[in-house]
Amino acid sequence: MFDTSRRRMLQALGIGGVASVAGCAGAPQTESDPPSTGSAPVQTDTGTPAPKQTDVDSVAADPADLPDPVDRDSTATVEVDLEVREVTAEVEPGVTFDYMTFNGTVPGPMVRVRRGDTVELTIRNPEGNGMPHNVDFHAAYGTGGGAEATGVNPGEQNKLKFQARYPGAFIYHCAVPNLDYHISAGMFGMILVEPEDGMPEVDREFYLGQHELYTDKATGEEGHHGFDFQAMAAEEPTYVLLNGEKYAYAAARYGPLEAEVGETVRVFLVDGGPNVTSNFHPIGNVWTKAWPNGAVAGDPDRFAQTMKVAPGSCFVGDMELPVTERIKLVDHALSRVARKGLLAEIDVAGPENEEIYDPDFGGSRHDDPMYS
Ligand code: CU
Ligand code: CU
Repeated sequence: MFDTSRRRMLQALGIGGVASVAGCAGAPQTESDPPSTGSAPVQTDTGTPAPKQTDVDSVAADPADLPDPVDRDSTATVEVDLEVREVTAEVEPGVTFDYMTFNGTVPGPMVRVRRGDTVELTIRNPEGNGMPHNVDFHAAYGTGGGAEATGVNPGEQNKLKFQARYPGAFIYHCAVPNLDYHISAGMFGMILVEPEDGMPEVDREFYLGQHELYTDKATGEEGHHGFDFQAMAAEEPTYVLLNGEKYAYAAARYGPLEAEVGETVRVFLVDGGPNVTSNFHPIGNVWTKAWPNGAVAGDPDRFAQTMKVAPGSCFVGDMELPVTERIKLVDHALSRVARKGLLAEIDVAGPENEEIYDPDFGGSRHDDPMYS
């Protein structure tokens, strides 16, 4: 009989009966090392493991840190470097988790190319990591989107070249046999293949990644959270997150994103999943233009409120900002916001526009004379 931790370890190593997933499989077969766990959790008096020492302050990718629009009218070769970093970090203060990331952030960096460009990828898996990894680009024709060609054990690097022949916003993700675990731990990002003529210009862009964490403790319970394969199989996440941490880019944590009245902003969302579909909605605004499924070469939906974004898919949406307000970007399956950590906010600074929105109309709240 295996005890729970032994079973969890075998599952982590891909021995727990997880089958390859067609199109997303193909990993090195030498998963001989245990996952990198950094320092061991400390037992407290109560038997609850204390939070681990963190390796990094945060894994949350800054949503404002993304490449500029492609400004070329011809094709080019674009070099992309992805380094796998297995790091312990906080999901929220007092709650640690062993993340697996591309370049240290969740989501991984946005790759931005023009249709017809050639991508020359280098993937590195540094010595000291515990697991093999690879990457599947949904923007690539080819077996596994490159997964089989890009496998790397710790201490190895690997290369792949592909031509981005079709436009759109696509996910990339790790696709080893335990791919659901690796994606849940943070290994996903977006590659945007712009149409030849580009996209409509906007004033500001933000890049977000939604995904869910499955842990062996209750949401918010202090301590180090191990991974829970049974919760993942049951699709019962402990956290559903934007950019890898609870309420990361909101007033509650690192602060809201910033924009100004009169601007048009574009939001790119990649849903890593591995299992949960997002219902992406801007509270206090609307998607003036919405490109479902990341299909930016087509005509957008207009004035859409809530957009479904499947795991393994992307969304691109524009908002206009006629009034000063705080916009909340949510998954409108709202228990994920109220109870499982998902939220980003945009503070729109600028003058009031009472013709469009007047919160003080009729004076402040007071007793209703009808009832007094
Ligand atoms: Cu995939
Ligand atoms: Cu991986």
